[in-house]
Parts: sequence; structure tokens; C-alpha cells
Amino acid sequence: MPNSSLDRRTLIRTAGAVGAGVVGVGALAACGSSSTTDAAASSSAPAGSAGVTVAASEVPVGGGKILADSLVVVTQPVAGTFKAFGATCTHQGCPVTKVADGKIECPCHGSQFDISTGAPTADSAAKKPLAAKTATVSGANIVIS
Ligand code: FES
Repeated sequence: MPNSSLDRRTLIRTAGAVGAGVVGVGALAACGSSSTTDAAASSSAPAGSAGVTVAASEVPVGGGKILADSLVVVTQPVAGTFKAFGATCTHQGCPVTKVADGKIECPCHGSQFDISTGAPTADSAAKKPLAAKTATVSGANIVIS
């Protein structure tokens, strides 16, 4: 008899563990769905996907927006014209961190790049332009590739 009691307890514990596992899978599936929804609602997608997307409304005229996770900077030099560049400074590789007064700025040694061309200003430590990317208007969004 003790063996059958032990077997029953073991069976109950095992069933509980399996049940918890099923709940865990359900919770994971729910998290997966949630993060998919979050990604769709996000203004940018990670690098390496089909393209990085940002809402045009998030890119100010005469300025820009840095998508740090994707190492991309999107600018709008004049209304309705969008440009995109790599956000890695061509001097020594720091990520640029600011767009202001028509310039993209690197904090490491003060290089500045034109928001229209990505070219460094004459007094910048960087001598090469930021890597050009393609910015395509798609409805209310800008797709960078
Ligand atoms: S790394 Fe950007 S200015 Fe030096």
C-alpha cells in the first residue's frame, strides 16, 4: 500500500508540473503576442529587418531623429524631404547623439555633419561624410534602407 500512495503523490506532483508547464507555455504565447503588438506600434524596427521605419511626424523640419538602436539618423532638411544616414561618426566611430541647428553632432570630439548631405563641417575632426542610406516615404512613415 505505501507504494501505491507514493505513486499517487508522484502522479499528482507530475500532473501539477505538467499543468504549470502548460500555463507557462500559455503565458509565453501571450507575451509573444504582446511583444508583437508592441513592435507593430513602435516607431522603429530593429536593424537587420526589412527596413527601419519611423513616423514622419517624429522627424522635425530642419532637424532629425536618431534611432539609436538601429544606428540610423533620419533628417528632414526641408518640409517633405527626408534623408537618412548611418549614426556612426566617421572620425573614430562614436554614435552621433544630437541633431540641432541643421547639424548632426557627435559628442566624442565635436564633429558636426550637415543634415542634408551628411558631410562634415570644415572644422570637424571627421573628414568623411556619414554613410548615406535611402529614406523612402511610405504613407505617414519613412522607411530607411
Ligand atoms: S568619434 Fe565623432 S568626433 Fe571623434
